[in-house]
Amino acid sequence: MAETATLTIDGKSWELPIIRGTAGEPAIDVTKLRDLTGHLTYDPGYGNTVSCTSAITYIDGDAGILRYRGIPIEQFSQRPNFVETAWLLIFGRLPKPHELAAFSAKLTANAHLHEGLKHHFEGFPIDAPPMAILSAMINAKGCFEDDFTHLEAEEAFEETAASLISKVRTIAAYAYRRSRGLPFIYPDPRLRYCANFLHMMFSMPYDQHLLDPDIEDALNLIFILHADHEQNCSTSTVRMVGSAKANLFASLAAGVCALWGPLHGGANAAVIEMLEGIHQGGLTPEQCIAKAKDKTDPFRLMGFGHRVYKNYDPRAKMLKQVADKVFSKLRRSDPLLDIARGLEELALKDPYFIDRKLYPNVDFYSGLIFRAIGIPTNMFTVMFAIGRLPGWIAQWKEQHDQVGGRIARPRQIYTGPELATYVPIERR
Ligand code: ACO
Repeated sequence: MAETATLTIDGKSWELPIIRGTAGEPAIDVTKLRDLTGHLTYDPGYGNTVSCTSAITYIDGDAGILRYRGIPIEQFSQRPNFVETAWLLIFGRLPKPHELAAFSAKLTANAHLHEGLKHHFEGFPIDAPPMAILSAMINAKGCFEDDFTHLEAEEAFEETAASLISKVRTIAAYAYRRSRGLPFIYPDPRLRYCANFLHMMFSMPYDQHLLDPDIEDALNLIFILHADHEQNCSTSTVRMVGSAKANLFASLAAGVCALWGPLHGGANAAVIEMLEGIHQGGLTPEQCIAKAKDKTDPFRLMGFGHRVYKNYDPRAKMLKQVADKVFSKLRRSDPLLDIARGLEELALKDPYFIDRKLYPNVDFYSGLIFRAIGIPTNMFTVMFAIGRLPGWIAQWKEQHDQVGGRIARPRQIYTGPELATYVPIERR
């Protein structure tokens, strides 16, 4: 028999269906609630609201589990291949060798920006935030597509997805070069995804950047760890915009804007600012923890806490190991890494953080690794966006492919004046 939940209001009862996910997680289906009862549900921040069903990413926040298409995230750490992960997320299964080769070839063929698109960079002020450039350029790229609004055919979609995943890396590198007044470096078709990105970031004309396979692997894994995270703020934004049947480029550009916020993807840069503040003597780690606990102070311990994880974020656990590897490989020490480790230790034994189940999240260690690789702080959230792009594309596609989807349109409880009268300006 179908499971139901009984809702009783003013002595009258209704049976509401319960739906369950693969792991048995239950949700009360309230799609008919207003029609049946005249009532709405109130859930600011959507902490209890399921906005869709999805077969892409599974998270068990209490157990610290993250899986892409059913595969535990830890299994991606061995021979990390971001492009393969992207295909898995978008098309629902691991690619066969010829499929991966064909997709990789599409990425290579699409790495260049249209020369017309390149001129757009000159229109931005030199110190323009790279996230603003990225969002604007994704929309601009759409304008250079022949028919970007029609992506129903799987092949056309694959071509566009490859082009976007490839070009977003070129756009990111060009945004950096522009901010430094450096010449643009064209993508090299002989290089793999991450190596090509590092080349476009750090090579100079006639002076090729020396690539280190361990750093390439680290970057591959970082992108993989950021590749999808179910219905977070930016992904929900992509779906919200996509629900209006807005095109893929517009939806992704909106996702970039949402990710920019310091409570979301912008936290990786905010962590470094916080650690630098401590390093420069502005605050001791103990004062920083006290400030984060002070309810009269808006300050939060950046890189800590998560809406879904009430356990150690598995991505943070893996990134901590990547950080150790990168620093030992580069034979470099960073005082900020020591401060981060110390802060983590203090927070993890503090009752405030223990009671609220606040653990390091993906942003706590990622910035330190980016810093070690030579990526400037204002590019950190762009790095997150490069990693997250396949997830956004997969989520947009899944939504687009679902039959009978409705435009996303939350309700509100109106609390303004009941009825007011318009007063002409001369009588106010
Ligand atoms: N520092 C101090 N206190 C915190 C922190 C923090 N980083 N995070 C949560 N809390 C406290 C809240 O003040 C609240 O306390 P209360 O119960 O006494 O009121 C309690 O913990 C629960 O927190 P919520 O605000 O309900 O958590 P929410 O799910 O709304 O927010 C968020 C999650 C935004 C990530 C939050 O933990 C935060 O601001 N963290 C710092 C920013 C950050 O690292 N963001 C990156 C998130 S990961 C990502 O987007 C990729």
